[in-house]
Amino acid sequence: MADLSKTGETLLEVHDLVKHYPVTQGIVLKRTIGQVRAVDGVSFDLSSGETLGVVGESGCGKSTLAKVLMRLEPATAGQVLFEGEDILKLKGAALRRMRRKVQMVFQDPYTSLNPRMTVGDIIGEPFEIHSEVAPKKSRRKAVQDLLDVVGLNPEYINRYPHQFSGGQRQRIGIARSLALKPDLIICDEPVSALDVSIQAQVMNLLGDLKKEFGLSYIFIAHDLSVVRHLSDRVAVMYLGKLMEVGTDTEIYQQASHPYTQALLSAVPVPDPTARERKSVIRLEGDPPSPVNPPSGCRFRTRCWKAQDLCAAEVPELIERHGQRSERWRLLDVVGTDRCGHVARSAAATAAPARSASLSRSPVG
Ligand SMILES: Nc1ncnc2c1ncn2[C@@H]1O[C@H](COP(=O)(O)OP(=O)(O)OP(=O)(O)O)[C@@H](O)[C@H]1O
Ligand code: SF4
Ligand SMILES: [Mg+2]
Repeated sequence: MADLSKTGETLLEVHDLVKHYPVTQGIVLKRTIGQVRAVDGVSFDLSSGETLGVVGESGCGKSTLAKVLMRLEPATAGQVLFEGEDILKLKGAALRRMRRKVQMVFQDPYTSLNPRMTVGDIIGEPFEIHSEVAPKKSRRKAVQDLLDVVGLNPEYINRYPHQFSGGQRQRIGIARSLALKPDLIICDEPVSALDVSIQAQVMNLLGDLKKEFGLSYIFIAHDLSVVRHLSDRVAVMYLGKLMEVGTDTEIYQQASHPYTQALLSAVPVPDPTARERKSVIRLEGDPPSPVNPPSGCRFRTRCWKAQDLCAAEVPELIERHGQRSERWRLLDVVGTDRCGHVARSAAATAAPARSASLSRSPVG
């Protein structure tokens, strides 16, 4: 697992990553008539020991991003440097080595585990390919240790997935992801299929494992409140692009992109007094199709601050000027030249421009 002495060093750099899926027509003679722009020029970086939350509505490209980073899908363009090496170009033994270091936890603990395999075989399966991590005679012990690490009874090694609850199954998925001692785990909505009470347990487990093994995470979720607990930084994604990236304070207290502000206003507030004071930005309608995204700013069809210019020109992204180094600032985007640097509090109290796509109302 991650070398704890390396915590803070850059582990992953993603530059202008693009993944388009062709849209075809015809059964025998297939013609490409368009492209689904699932990921369309995404850049960010991740330090060793850091957790980056990735948040956005359904269909914005989060899982596609994860699959391309895992090399489960080929990228259309871009560069993904893992420990300085472009993993999009790796083949053979070098690709296998990379696959050991980057693992994934999937959303649905009910379908991601093979029902015909015992838990021992599921968790130990990666050792078949990477036998150097656990030679055959020590495998049973290695699997039992992993069960113990994720809070499951090592005696359960011969049980089948249907004999476990959803939360326990997700623990099995996490144990399997840890088997090869990875540096980075990409968690694609690992708790969204679980009950709220179980979600907290799994999140706490992931937090503990991060500390214990110096892991880095990319943690994908729909909701800003889910990723907050675990994330050092959060990236907000919309229609294949990152809209804003920042630290906890930068995103949760000073969000400057209208889309981040809208997502934040949808986060439930437990305190009734605070809830009454909170104004809500309701994003209406679904995001546009990634086959034919809006011209200019992708968010403009749902943005209450949109101007004519937003349709005519792609806005320039503004670099975040915080405490971060020069290189980090290039990748931490605060918003655009039209709507960046607008403090959330100011945006929340200002009367919104009239817009068919947005309404505000107190939360009732
Ligand atoms: N194999 C594929 N072929 C064609 N289009 C695809 C494929 N996989 C995903 N897409 C499209 O790419 C876009 C992004 O999908 P993706 O699954 O990455 O979104 P997501 O943000 O993970 O959504 P959700 O939150 O619902 O999981 C969607 O429009 C989806 O329909
Ligand atoms: S660039 Fe224009 S449309 Fe896009 S988020 Fe900013 S104000 Fe809204
Ligand atoms: Mg998804």
